[in-house]
Amino acid sequence: MSIHTDVKRTTVPQITACKGQRKIAALTAYTSAIAGAIDEHLDLILIGDSTAMVGYGLPDTLTITVEQLTQHAAAVVRATRHACVVVDMPFGSYQESPAQAFRNAAYMMAHSGAAAVKMEGGAAMADTVRFLVERAVPVLAHVGLMPQYVNTMGGFRAQGMDEASAARILADARAHQDAGAFAIVLEGVAEPLAARITAELSIPTIGIGASPACDGQILVTEDILGLTPRAPRFAKRYADAAELIGQAARRYAEEVRSGAFPELSHCFGAARKEPRS
Ligand code: KIV
Repeated sequence: MSIHTDVKRTTVPQITACKGQRKIAALTAYTSAIAGAIDEHLDLILIGDSTAMVGYGLPDTLTITVEQLTQHAAAVVRATRHACVVVDMPFGSYQESPAQAFRNAAYMMAHSGAAAVKMEGGAAMADTVRFLVERAVPVLAHVGLMPQYVNTMGGFRAQGMDEASAARILADARAHQDAGAFAIVLEGVAEPLAARITAELSIPTIGIGASPACDGQILVTEDILGLTPRAPRFAKRYADAAELIGQAARRYAEEVRSGAFPELSHCFGAARKEPRS
């Protein structure tokens, strides 16, 4: 029996059914602490391969492994009860063949409890999407600015700004829908293109730096919390958690140095001072 059977989570079909009904609110999480704090407010939580940059301070997403993302996803699943949890497939774990993709996706889902995987890639990956979906692996597709393609794209650049690139991204999105993707992330694409893809597809689009017309939005949680030193232009900061954390650390350090912390109430087996009569 699964340890997850007592949990009434948002399911993958429920995410797809949001199309035309209500907007999908999604964020990333890499740890139990953050996931537990955001869960009840969200439809979908993604363990993105942005873990590499945001969580490990790496320059891009390319070096994070299947094992690392699986461990982060398991931590997120354990801390959540509400949102649909989706794990990103790392660079090199699915591009070789549909069989390789299935093997790694099945491993990541089985060892984390995530309900689905996300995969970057254009129409060339559609056969792989179909192969997975036919074998019980729900796929969230991801087109437009694909960070795993940083070296072929020559940087993190908005996509679909000219006609040829827009036509290619539209074809990519159609191919993933036809292959059975349950929803599609549109990252860093020209606004009119994102609006057009959203109007045309019957599966939900989840935008990040795309368009308010998208069926949902996703951002990196550390960006909305103000925990990343340089958030992308498309992110909106909803809190200054870095300031808050710094203040707490400063007060703690002051109390340690002055002897105000710890008090006897923070200790075990210490003789209690009797209140004076
Ligand atoms: O890795 C990631 O966090 C993503 C996003 C869509 C936010 O792919």
